[in-house]
Amino acid sequence: MLTKIIVALALLSFARAQTPEGFVPSVSSQLDVLFGTKAVSPPGMSLTKAETAKQPIIGTNETLTGTYLFMMIDLDVPASFTNPSSGPRRTNLHAMVQDFKPDGQTSAAGVQTLASTAKTPVAYIGPAPPAETPPHPHRYVTLLFEQPEGFAVPESQKSQIRQKIGFNVTTFIEAAALKAPVAGNYFTVSG
Ligand SMILES: *[C@@H]1O[C@H](CO)[C@@H](O)[C@H](O)[C@H]1NC(C)=O
Ligand SMILES: *[C@@H]1O[C@H](CO)[C@@H](O)[C@H](O)[C@H]1NC(C)=O
Repeated sequence: MLTKIIVALALLSFARAQTPEGFVPSVSSQLDVLFGTKAVSPPGMSLTKAETAKQPIIGTNETLTGTYLFMMIDLDVPASFTNPSSGPRRTNLHAMVQDFKPDGQTSAAGVQTLASTAKTPVAYIGPAPPAETPPHPHRYVTLLFEQPEGFAVPESQKSQIRQKIGFNVTTFIEAAALKAPVAGNYFTVSG
């Protein structure tokens, strides 16, 4: 009986991951991501390039205090645009925006929103996946971290941040001494 309950709970928590299957770090708390009036819910929903061209409004249902770092990472960049199957898919860092703070606003859906006027270290770049045959929608993971006091991109990560392609969030978390993300979500866009 107890074993059954434990298994059921394990399945439940797995089913509730807000990040794509296999993505590390897995996040169980949902980041509310609003593109205009469209909320990314359930996680993994499909959106268009036009809908996602501008940085989304982000927030959570929990009351947050403090300062946060937002990231968005494409997990499905083909090894080559002319020959996508020529190698493993890579990541591309689409946004790393610092200084998000609760702005005291609540969206129509009851989400407490966060705001930042920063464009650094990486300003938001909208998805632009290439068309592929067969189609291969790209997954865009959004993550929210507590921003450490005096946050700056570590020296060891500066060239990677400029490069964007091949960004490894695990390595960045270690280098920048970030804690586990407080919330996450993802959506897909087709070329
Ligand atoms: C937040 O609340 C809204 C409205 O009740 C709901 O639609 C949404 O799924 C909730 N989000 C999370 C992350 O629980
Ligand atoms: C990211 O780096 C970690 C080590 O820091 C490594 O274990 C992991 O495989 C890397 N992830 C990818 C997708 O390359």
